[in-house]
Amino acid sequence: MTESLEGKIALVSGGGRAIGAATAKLLAQRGAEVLVSDIATQEAEAVAANICAEGGRAIALSLDVRSEAGWQTVHDYIGSRFPKLDILVNNAAVELFGPSEEITLEEWRAVQAVNVEGVFLGAKTLLPLLKAVHRETPGATSSVINLSSVAGIIGRPDQLAYMSSKGAVRSMSKGLAIEYASKGFNIRVNSVHPGGIETPMLNNVLQYRVEEEIIPAKTLAEAQQLMADYHPLGRLGQPEDIANGVAFLASEASSFMTGTELVIDGGWTAQ
Ligand SMILES: NC(=O)c1ccc[n+]([C@@H]2O[C@H](COP(=O)([O-])OP(=O)(O)OC[C@H]3O[C@@H](n4cnc5c(N)ncnc54)[C@H](O)[C@@H]3O)[C@@H](O)[C@H]2O)c1
Repeated sequence: MTESLEGKIALVSGGGRAIGAATAKLLAQRGAEVLVSDIATQEAEAVAANICAEGGRAIALSLDVRSEAGWQTVHDYIGSRFPKLDILVNNAAVELFGPSEEITLEEWRAVQAVNVEGVFLGAKTLLPLLKAVHRETPGATSSVINLSSVAGIIGRPDQLAYMSSKGAVRSMSKGLAIEYASKGFNIRVNSVHPGGIETPMLNNVLQYRVEEEIIPAKTLAEAQQLMADYHPLGRLGQPEDIANGVAFLASEASSFMTGTELVIDGGWTAQ
Protein backbone atom coordinates (compact mmCIF):
# COMPACT_ATOMS: atom_id res chain seq x y z
CA MET A 1 0.00 0.00 0.00
CA THR A 2 1.24 3.43 -0.94
CA GLU A 3 1.46 6.69 0.97
CA SER A 4 1.34 8.59 -2.34
CA LEU A 5 -1.60 10.97 -2.69
CA GLU A 6 -1.17 11.45 -6.43
CA GLY A 7 -4.46 12.27 -8.14
CA LYS A 8 -6.29 12.98 -4.88
CA ILE A 9 -8.21 16.16 -4.03
CA ALA A 10 -7.92 17.34 -0.41
CA LEU A 11 -9.49 20.10 1.65
CA VAL A 12 -7.91 21.38 4.88
CA SER A 13 -9.91 23.70 7.12
CA GLY A 14 -7.94 26.19 9.18
CA GLY A 15 -5.10 25.68 6.71
CA GLY A 16 -3.77 29.22 6.99
CA ARG A 17 -1.18 28.52 9.68
CA ALA A 18 0.44 26.05 12.06
CA ILE A 19 -0.83 22.44 11.92
CA GLY A 20 -3.27 23.14 9.08
CA ALA A 21 -0.59 24.82 6.96
CA ALA A 22 1.97 22.06 7.57
CA THR A 23 -0.68 19.49 6.67
CA ALA A 24 -1.66 21.27 3.45
CA LYS A 25 1.99 21.49 2.47
CA LEU A 26 2.71 17.80 3.12
CA LEU A 27 -0.42 16.58 1.34
CA ALA A 28 0.64 18.63 -1.69
CA GLN A 29 4.18 17.26 -1.50
CA ARG A 30 2.71 13.75 -1.58
CA GLY A 31 0.86 14.63 -4.80
CA ALA A 32 -2.60 15.84 -3.73
CA GLU A 33 -4.24 18.99 -5.09
CA VAL A 34 -5.05 20.89 -1.91
CA LEU A 35 -7.82 23.34 -1.15
CA VAL A 36 -6.40 25.47 1.65
CA SER A 37 -9.33 27.02 3.48
CA ASP A 38 -9.39 29.39 6.44
CA ILE A 39 -11.46 32.17 7.95
CA ALA A 40 -8.19 34.12 7.64
CA THR A 41 -8.29 34.37 3.85
CA GLN A 42 -4.93 36.09 3.38
CA GLU A 43 -3.14 33.43 5.42
CA ALA A 44 -4.76 30.70 3.31
CA GLU A 45 -3.69 32.53 0.16
CA ALA A 46 -0.11 32.76 1.40
CA VAL A 47 0.01 29.02 2.19
CA ALA A 48 -1.47 28.11 -1.20
CA ALA A 49 0.98 30.45 -2.97
CA ASN A 50 3.93 28.84 -1.14
CA ILE A 51 2.77 25.36 -2.13
CA CYS A 52 2.47 26.43 -5.78
CA ALA A 53 5.88 28.14 -5.66
CA GLU A 54 7.38 24.83 -4.55
CA GLY A 55 5.79 23.02 -7.50
CA GLY A 56 2.65 21.70 -5.78
CA ARG A 57 -0.99 22.32 -6.59
CA ALA A 58 -3.12 24.36 -4.18
CA ILE A 59 -6.07 26.73 -4.20
CA ALA A 60 -7.00 29.10 -1.37
CA LEU A 61 -10.60 29.30 -0.20
CA SER A 62 -12.23 31.59 2.33
CA LEU A 63 -14.29 29.48 4.73
CA ASP A 64 -15.70 30.07 8.19
CA VAL A 65 -16.43 26.52 9.34
CA ARG A 66 -19.36 27.76 11.46
CA SER A 67 -21.26 28.73 8.32
CA GLU A 68 -23.45 26.12 6.62
CA ALA A 69 -23.80 28.44 3.63
CA GLY A 70 -20.01 28.77 3.50
CA TRP A 71 -19.59 24.98 3.39
CA GLN A 72 -22.25 24.80 0.66
CA THR A 73 -20.34 27.34 -1.43
CA VAL A 74 -17.19 25.24 -1.02
CA HIS A 75 -19.16 22.12 -1.98
CA ASP A 76 -20.43 23.79 -5.13
CA TYR A 77 -16.97 25.04 -6.05
CA ILE A 78 -15.36 21.61 -5.67
CA GLY A 79 -18.31 19.99 -7.45
CA SER A 80 -17.97 22.27 -10.44
CA ARG A 81 -14.26 21.76 -10.72
CA PHE A 82 -13.31 18.17 -9.87
CA PRO A 83 -16.11 16.78 -8.88
CA LYS A 84 -15.04 14.61 -5.94
CA LEU A 85 -13.20 14.99 -2.67
CA ASP A 86 -10.77 12.28 -1.53
CA ILE A 87 -9.51 13.85 1.71
CA LEU A 88 -11.25 16.14 4.19
CA VAL A 89 -9.15 17.41 7.09
CA ASN A 90 -11.32 19.12 9.71
CA ASN A 91 -8.55 21.04 11.45
CA ALA A 92 -9.95 24.51 12.27
CA ALA A 93 -10.55 25.07 15.96
CA VAL A 94 -10.39 27.66 18.72
CA GLU A 95 -9.20 27.32 22.31
CA LEU A 96 -10.73 28.83 25.46
CA PHE A 97 -8.86 28.81 28.72
CA GLY A 98 -10.20 29.61 32.17
CA PRO A 99 -12.00 28.15 35.20
CA SER A 100 -15.25 26.40 34.26
CA GLU A 101 -17.29 28.51 36.72
CA GLU A 102 -16.19 31.68 34.92
CA ILE A 103 -17.01 30.58 31.37
CA THR A 104 -20.18 32.20 30.05
CA LEU A 105 -22.70 30.21 28.06
CA GLU A 106 -21.96 32.47 25.11
CA GLU A 107 -18.24 31.64 25.31
CA TRP A 108 -19.01 27.93 25.66
CA ARG A 109 -21.22 28.00 22.58
CA ALA A 110 -18.65 29.96 20.58
CA VAL A 111 -16.13 27.14 21.10
CA GLN A 112 -18.61 24.39 20.20
CA ALA A 113 -19.70 26.32 17.09
CA VAL A 114 -16.22 26.13 15.58
CA ASN A 115 -14.84 22.91 17.04
CA VAL A 116 -17.94 20.70 16.96
CA GLU A 117 -20.46 22.21 14.56
CA GLY A 118 -17.67 23.01 12.10
CA VAL A 119 -16.72 19.32 11.90
CA PHE A 120 -20.34 18.21 11.64
CA LEU A 121 -21.09 20.72 8.88
CA GLY A 122 -17.97 19.78 6.93
CA ALA A 123 -18.73 16.07 6.96
CA LYS A 124 -22.44 16.61 6.23
CA THR A 125 -22.08 19.16 3.44
CA LEU A 126 -19.21 17.51 1.60
CA LEU A 127 -20.58 13.94 1.92
CA PRO A 128 -21.81 13.78 -1.71
CA LEU A 129 -18.28 14.63 -2.93
CA LEU A 130 -16.69 12.10 -0.57
CA LYS A 131 -19.14 9.43 -1.78
CA ALA A 132 -18.34 10.25 -5.41
CA VAL A 133 -14.82 8.79 -5.00
CA HIS A 134 -16.12 5.23 -4.61
CA ARG A 135 -18.90 5.79 -7.14
CA GLU A 136 -16.45 6.90 -9.85
CA THR A 137 -13.77 4.33 -9.00
CA PRO A 138 -15.33 1.29 -7.30
CA GLY A 139 -13.20 0.20 -4.33
CA ALA A 140 -11.47 3.55 -3.89
CA THR A 141 -11.84 5.07 -0.43
CA SER A 142 -12.07 8.66 0.71
CA SER A 143 -10.76 9.74 4.09
CA VAL A 144 -12.04 12.19 6.69
CA ILE A 145 -9.51 13.19 9.34
CA ASN A 146 -10.74 15.15 12.33
CA LEU A 147 -8.33 17.00 14.60
CA SER A 148 -9.21 16.19 18.20
CA SER A 149 -6.59 16.43 20.96
CA VAL A 150 -5.19 14.62 23.98
CA ALA A 151 -7.72 16.94 25.64
CA GLY A 152 -10.41 14.75 24.04
CA ILE A 153 -9.09 11.74 25.96
CA ILE A 154 -7.81 12.89 29.35
CA GLY A 155 -8.87 15.53 31.88
CA ARG A 156 -7.00 18.81 32.42
CA PRO A 157 -7.92 21.86 34.51
CA ASP A 158 -9.39 25.08 33.09
CA GLN A 159 -10.12 23.86 29.59
CA LEU A 160 -13.67 22.52 29.93
CA ALA A 161 -15.24 23.99 26.79
CA TYR A 162 -12.27 23.00 24.61
CA MET A 163 -11.98 19.52 26.14
CA SER A 164 -15.69 18.88 25.72
CA SER A 165 -15.49 19.94 22.09
CA LYS A 166 -12.53 17.65 21.43
CA GLY A 167 -14.28 14.73 23.16
CA ALA A 168 -17.22 15.36 20.86
CA VAL A 169 -14.92 15.30 17.82
CA ARG A 170 -13.54 11.92 18.98
CA SER A 171 -17.06 10.45 19.37
CA MET A 172 -18.31 12.03 16.16
CA SER A 173 -15.44 10.47 14.23
CA LYS A 174 -16.33 6.99 15.49
CA GLY A 175 -20.03 7.54 14.84
CA LEU A 176 -19.45 8.70 11.27
CA ALA A 177 -16.95 5.88 10.66
CA ILE A 178 -19.46 3.22 11.62
CA GLU A 179 -22.37 4.91 9.86
CA TYR A 180 -20.48 5.27 6.58
CA ALA A 181 -19.04 1.74 6.78
CA SER A 182 -22.45 0.22 7.48
CA LYS A 183 -23.81 1.95 4.37
CA GLY A 184 -20.93 0.87 2.13
CA PHE A 185 -19.82 4.43 1.34
CA ASN A 186 -16.09 3.50 1.40
CA ILE A 187 -15.38 6.61 3.46
CA ARG A 188 -12.99 6.17 6.38
CA VAL A 189 -13.14 8.54 9.35
CA ASN A 190 -10.43 8.82 11.99
CA SER A 191 -9.41 11.30 14.67
CA VAL A 192 -5.95 12.64 15.42
CA HIS A 193 -4.95 13.55 18.98
CA PRO A 194 -1.96 15.86 19.24
CA GLY A 195 -0.13 16.55 22.49
CA GLY A 196 1.47 19.96 22.96
CA ILE A 197 2.39 21.26 19.52
CA GLU A 198 4.32 24.49 19.12
CA THR A 199 1.75 26.74 17.41
CA PRO A 200 0.06 30.11 18.07
CA MET A 201 -2.82 28.23 19.76
CA LEU A 202 -0.54 26.58 22.32
CA ASN A 203 1.56 29.69 22.81
CA ASN A 204 -1.55 31.75 23.57
CA VAL A 205 -2.58 29.25 26.26
CA LEU A 206 0.92 29.22 27.76
CA GLN A 207 1.08 33.04 27.72
CA TYR A 208 -2.23 33.15 29.59
CA ARG A 209 -0.88 30.73 32.19
CA VAL A 210 2.23 32.88 32.64
CA GLU A 211 0.26 36.13 32.97
CA GLU A 212 -2.24 34.62 35.42
CA GLU A 213 0.65 33.05 37.40
CA ILE A 214 -0.98 29.64 37.07
CA ILE A 215 2.35 27.95 36.40
CA PRO A 216 5.83 28.61 37.85
CA ALA A 217 7.12 30.25 34.68
CA LYS A 218 7.92 33.90 34.06
CA THR A 219 8.33 33.78 30.28
CA LEU A 220 6.81 31.96 27.34
CA ALA A 221 10.08 30.07 26.85
CA GLU A 222 9.98 28.82 30.44
CA ALA A 223 6.33 27.81 30.01
CA GLN A 224 7.19 25.94 26.82
CA GLN A 225 9.91 24.04 28.69
CA LEU A 226 7.47 23.13 31.48
CA MET A 227 5.03 21.90 28.84
CA ALA A 228 7.75 19.96 27.06
CA ASP A 229 8.46 18.16 30.35
CA TYR A 230 4.93 16.63 30.24
CA HIS A 231 6.05 14.69 27.18
CA PRO A 232 8.24 11.66 27.88
CA LEU A 233 10.09 12.35 24.64
CA GLY A 234 11.15 15.64 26.25
CA ARG A 235 10.04 18.15 23.64
CA LEU A 236 7.00 19.89 22.26
CA GLY A 237 5.68 18.54 18.98
CA GLN A 238 6.01 20.46 15.75
CA PRO A 239 3.17 20.96 13.21
CA GLU A 240 5.01 18.55 10.87
CA ASP A 241 4.69 15.74 13.47
CA ILE A 242 0.91 16.01 13.13
CA ALA A 243 0.97 16.51 9.36
CA ASN A 244 2.79 13.17 9.03
CA GLY A 245 0.00 11.38 10.88
CA VAL A 246 -2.71 13.09 8.86
CA ALA A 247 -0.97 12.23 5.57
CA PHE A 248 -0.78 8.58 6.63
CA LEU A 249 -4.51 8.50 7.46
CA ALA A 250 -5.23 10.20 4.14
CA SER A 251 -3.36 7.56 2.17
CA GLU A 252 -4.09 4.00 1.08
CA ALA A 253 -1.42 2.87 3.58
CA SER A 254 -4.13 3.20 6.26
CA SER A 255 -6.89 1.61 4.17
CA PHE A 256 -7.97 -0.79 6.96
CA MET A 257 -8.24 1.98 9.57
CA THR A 258 -11.51 3.64 10.40
CA GLY A 259 -13.06 4.89 13.63
CA THR A 260 -9.72 4.89 15.39
CA GLU A 261 -7.61 7.43 17.26
CA LEU A 262 -4.12 8.35 16.20
CA VAL A 263 -2.41 9.79 19.27
CA ILE A 264 0.68 11.89 18.47
CA ASP A 265 1.76 13.19 21.85
CA GLY A 266 5.36 12.22 22.58
CA GLY A 267 4.09 9.63 25.06
CA TRP A 268 2.09 12.08 27.22
CA THR A 269 -1.06 9.97 27.58
CA ALA A 270 0.85 6.68 27.87
CA GLN A 271 1.97 7.55 31.40
N1 LIG B 1 -1.33 23.19 19.14
C1 LIG B 1 -1.60 22.21 19.97
O1 LIG B 1 -0.89 22.00 20.96
C2 LIG B 1 -2.77 21.31 19.70
C3 LIG B 1 -2.95 20.21 20.56
C4 LIG B 1 -4.01 19.36 20.36
C5 LIG B 1 -4.89 19.58 19.32
N2 LIG B 1 -4.71 20.64 18.47
C6 LIG B 1 -5.67 20.82 17.39
O2 LIG B 1 -5.00 20.93 16.15
C7 LIG B 1 -5.76 21.79 15.28
C8 LIG B 1 -4.89 22.93 14.79
O3 LIG B 1 -4.39 23.63 15.92
P1 LIG B 1 -3.27 24.76 15.81
O4 LIG B 1 -2.48 24.68 17.04
O5 LIG B 1 -2.61 24.71 14.49
O6 LIG B 1 -4.23 26.06 15.91
P2 LIG B 1 -3.99 27.58 15.47
O7 LIG B 1 -4.85 28.40 16.35
O8 LIG B 1 -2.55 27.90 15.42
O9 LIG B 1 -4.59 27.59 13.97
C9 LIG B 1 -5.97 27.38 13.80
C10 LIG B 1 -6.39 27.86 12.43
O10 LIG B 1 -7.82 27.71 12.37
C11 LIG B 1 -8.36 28.91 11.83
N3 LIG B 1 -9.73 29.12 12.29
C12 LIG B 1 -10.15 29.50 13.53
N4 LIG B 1 -11.47 29.64 13.53
C13 LIG B 1 -11.92 29.32 12.29
C14 LIG B 1 -13.20 29.28 11.68
N5 LIG B 1 -14.32 29.62 12.35
N6 LIG B 1 -13.30 28.88 10.40
C15 LIG B 1 -12.18 28.56 9.69
N7 LIG B 1 -10.94 28.61 10.20
C16 LIG B 1 -10.82 28.98 11.51
C17 LIG B 1 -7.42 30.02 12.27
O11 LIG B 1 -7.55 31.18 11.44
C18 LIG B 1 -6.06 29.33 12.17
O12 LIG B 1 -5.51 29.49 10.87
C19 LIG B 1 -6.96 22.27 16.10
O13 LIG B 1 -8.07 21.45 15.84
C20 LIG B 1 -6.49 22.08 17.53
O14 LIG B 1 -7.55 21.94 18.44
C21 LIG B 1 -3.66 21.51 18.65
